[in-house]
Amino acid sequence: MNFERNILITGGAGFIGSHLVRLMVERYPTYRIINLDLLTYAGNLANLKDVEGCANYLFVRGDVCDRGLVEEIFERYGVDGVIHLAAESHVDRSIREPFAFARTNIMGTLTLLDVARRGWEGRMEGKRFHHISTDEVFGALEMSGGMFTEQTKYDPHSPYSASKASSDHFVRAYHDTYGLPTVITNCSNNYGPYQFPEKLIPLFINNIRQRKPLPLYGRGENVRDWLYVEDHARAIDLVFHHGRVGESYNVGGNNEWRNIDLVRVLIKTVDRLLGNPEGYSDSLVRFVTDRPGHDARYAIDSTKLQKELGWEPSLQFEEGIKKTVRWYLDNQEWMDSVTSGDYLRYYEEMYSGR
Ligand code: NAD
Ligand code: TYD
Repeated sequence: MNFERNILITGGAGFIGSHLVRLMVERYPTYRIINLDLLTYAGNLANLKDVEGCANYLFVRGDVCDRGLVEEIFERYGVDGVIHLAAESHVDRSIREPFAFARTNIMGTLTLLDVARRGWEGRMEGKRFHHISTDEVFGALEMSGGMFTEQTKYDPHSPYSASKASSDHFVRAYHDTYGLPTVITNCSNNYGPYQFPEKLIPLFINNIRQRKPLPLYGRGENVRDWLYVEDHARAIDLVFHHGRVGESYNVGGNNEWRNIDLVRVLIKTVDRLLGNPEGYSDSLVRFVTDRPGHDARYAIDSTKLQKELGWEPSLQFEEGIKKTVRWYLDNQEWMDSVTSGDYLRYYEEMYSGR
């Protein structure tokens, strides 16, 4: 079968990647979507069960740092677009293992950029390299106000955000130096189904259900700007197709929450859905030692994306959080397999010998 386009999505078995793969496979039947994912602890093919049999979807297990493999994928499938999400993505892990973050997030991005530049040399027309980044590259805002715009100076504080900032710089350098047709999106915190339960929202939903403590860092006063993951996937689709080459776009929910207030909403929603009396799980909250270098506040100004491409978040937070809590409670099997590590063992066996 001949495809109109051949798009390489990296990290498609992760949280955001799986929502993006689903959107692209369903929305663009004339595109071949190639999902390159190493299936680290954060990647899970169960996130993509509903698309795995689709004729325009292909999964390749592999490392974005493996230049030979990336070259082979480019040649074999005639890749003309890349949407790069594969990354180590958890701040707390980056504090423990910064080198893993430098390897995947910096060297992995550089590998993809360089294969794309050589593969597309002399025929950049119609090609596109879309790098998925984070608002965390901008550092922290004062509690009293201000928002990150595309002009905000980079000021990363954690090994995670430093590695993402570095990868963004490489993407810009490949545009400016080699004319690679790049775009970058910097998004705020995502929430929704299929997020690995080391991140605040799925971790706390699961802990409330199991009546385990909810460890809030510091006084729980840090502020994050939350966006429903499907709205992020829609933004990526728009920017990939219509964003201006060489530009970056901020993506945010215009939805700031102090962690403590967010956790109160989570407790109330889980308790209500489980039929527990009001206030039943309030006592699970524990204030614990703060995360080192914990950024006080993130808030994204996505005016540019709204004005240029007409994007805006579609889901109200109250609705999104209800939908999300319900999904985790209804998909206990997914949660149990992810927390027990069963799925990792399953894939190790399935792919051993490859
Ligand atoms: P995730 O941790 O859920 O998924 C990452 C995926 O990348 C996994 O499927 C994993 O197996 C894969 N991967 C890791 N190392 C790899 C390697 N070396 N080669 C190939 N695949 C590899 O992450 P996520 O939350 O879905 O984030 C996706 C992207 O979006 C990341 O680049 C992240 O920086 C960015 N981002 C995330 C958020 C958020 O709130 N989660 C917000 C803004 C930006
Ligand atoms: P997280 O989901 O790890 O995303 P990020 O660090 O990328 O913003 O954390 C969201 C916020 O919740 C952040 O301020 C740290 C805080 N947090 C806790 O207080 N306790 C926890 O156990 C976790 C995982 C996060």
